[in-house]
Amino acid sequence: MRLLTPALLSAGLVLFLTALPARSSAAVDEELEELMYSLKRHLKGAAQALQDPSMEAEALDHIAQLQAAAHAAKVLEPSNLDEIPEGERAQHVRSYRRDMAEVLGVLVDMEIDVLEGRREEAAGKLADPLYKLREAAHEKYQD
Ligand code: HEM
Repeated sequence: MRLLTPALLSAGLVLFLTALPARSSAAVDEELEELMYSLKRHLKGAAQALQDPSMEAEALDHIAQLQAAAHAAKVLEPSNLDEIPEGERAQHVRSYRRDMAEVLGVLVDMEIDVLEGRREEAAGKLADPLYKLREAAHEKYQD
């Protein structure tokens, strides 16, 4: 019985783990939606803070939050994946990740701009390329 108990426990654990549902696509969608609203909120905050030289710390904080959201979002799946033919889905996910990584790269450039005293240049990147990347991405990946 003593020997049997660990074996039974591990068999039970395996059964339990295999019975756990994979994260549903609805949960992934919800996570992405939250991250998108975080992008929206912090983009607005960054735009305001970047207008005011005395708000550099706030601007850097919003940019850091934007980076965190883009970093988390790039490993999720685009919400229109179900509409893509099965054979093209892997490439669609790859392309989504690539486009979000580009956004992350712009956000890192903005941080460097601010830290090197180019606040106005950082502010300019909100409209071009960030806004343009957002529009193109929504066209491609929103359901
Ligand atoms: C950079 C600035 C961006 C902002 C401020 C932004 C903001 C938003 C907002 C407010 C929504 C609506 C959420 C909802 O009601 O469902 C949304 C949806 C979405 N965005 Fe973005 N977005 C940005 C960039 C991107 C990028 C670069 C991608 C992809 C590479 C992307 C992919 C999506 C997708 C797939 C949805 C649909 C999510 C869902 O079904 O809930 N977005 N975005």
